[in-house]
Amino acid sequence: MAQRDVSGTVAEPPAVPASELFSEERSAEVVAASFAGTRDPRLHRVLTSLVRHLHDFVKDVELTDEEWAAAIGFLTATGQTCTATRQEFILLSDVLGISMLVETLNNRAGDDLTESTVEGPFHVVASPRRELGASIAEDGRGTPCLVTGSVAGPDGRPVPGAEVDVWQADDEGFYDVQRADERAHGNLRGLFTADAEGRFRFRSIVPRYYPIPADGPVGRLLEATSRHPNRPAHIHFEVSAPGYRTVTTHLFVAGTPFIDSDAVFGVKPSLVREFPEVDDPARAEQAGLPNPFRTVHFDVVLSPADDEGVR
Ligand code: BEZ
Ligand code: FE
Repeated sequence: MAQRDVSGTVAEPPAVPASELFSEERSAEVVAASFAGTRDPRLHRVLTSLVRHLHDFVKDVELTDEEWAAAIGFLTATGQTCTATRQEFILLSDVLGISMLVETLNNRAGDDLTESTVEGPFHVVASPRRELGASIAEDGRGTPCLVTGSVAGPDGRPVPGAEVDVWQADDEGFYDVQRADERAHGNLRGLFTADAEGRFRFRSIVPRYYPIPADGPVGRLLEATSRHPNRPAHIHFEVSAPGYRTVTTHLFVAGTPFIDSDAVFGVKPSLVREFPEVDDPARAEQAGLPNPFRTVHFDVVLSPADDEGVR
C-alpha cells in the first residue's frame, strides 16, 4: 500500500518483479530460489531438487485439499507410532522401496563382493557378545540349525577378527523387541568375532517368514493397496572389520514363501541359500545340536574401505 513519508509525499512501495512472486507456473523455482543462501552446497542441491520433485508431484496428481490433509494425518500418525523399539518411518521407507534404492545406490557391489540389502527396523538393541559356536536361540524353540561361514577380502585373504553381528525372528515370526517380555531382549541375536582364519560359526534355528508390523499406518497403506506384509525367511548379518566397508545383508532360505514378493523388495539372488538337513547323530553331537538338524554356510567377501570405484 502507498505510504506518506515525513514530508507528506506519497511513496509507492518498491515493485516486486513478477518472476520472484509465487505462482502456479513458477512455484518450484520461487521456493528453490529461497534456499540460495544455504551454506552447505550438498544441502542446497538436495533441498532444491526435493522441492522441484514435490511441486511436480502435486501438479501431476492435482492434489486436493482433502488429500493433502490426509497425507499430513498419515505422516503425523507414522511419527506417533515410533517408539524406542518401533521405527514406523523406516518401515514406510522400506515398503516404498526407498530403503532398497538408497542401499543399492550406495553399495554397488563389484564382482564376487557380498551384496547388501535392507537393515530393517529391528537392529535396535545391541546383540549380546557370544563365543564362536554358541547358540543364539536362548529359548531353544524351533528347528535347530548350524550356521557356519567365513569373512575374506576380494583377494580371498581371510579377515581374522572380523565382527559378525546377526539377528533374526523367532519360530513364530517375531523379533525379541516385539515381545512384551523385556527379558527376552538378546534372544536370536549375537555378536561374534571371526577366528584367525576369518571363520565363524553359531547355533540357531531355521528362521520363519513373517509379516512386517502391519497394525499401524504402514499396515493401512499396504491394506489399501492390496499388498501383503510378508518378508521371506532370512537371517540378518552386519559384518565389519578395520580397513573394510561394513556390509549389511541377509541370508534368505531357499524355497521360503514370499521369496518372489518381499514386502520391502530386499531379495537378491546371490543371498539365497539352501538350508539342507543333516541326519547324523555324530555330527549333531559335535555341533551341540539335536539330531537331525539343518545347516547353512555363508562366505562373506568384504570390499576394502579405500575401494572407491566399487562401493
Ligand atoms: C527386517 O527384515 O527385519 C525388516 C526389514 C524391513 C521392514 C521390516 C522388517
Ligand atoms: Fe528381518
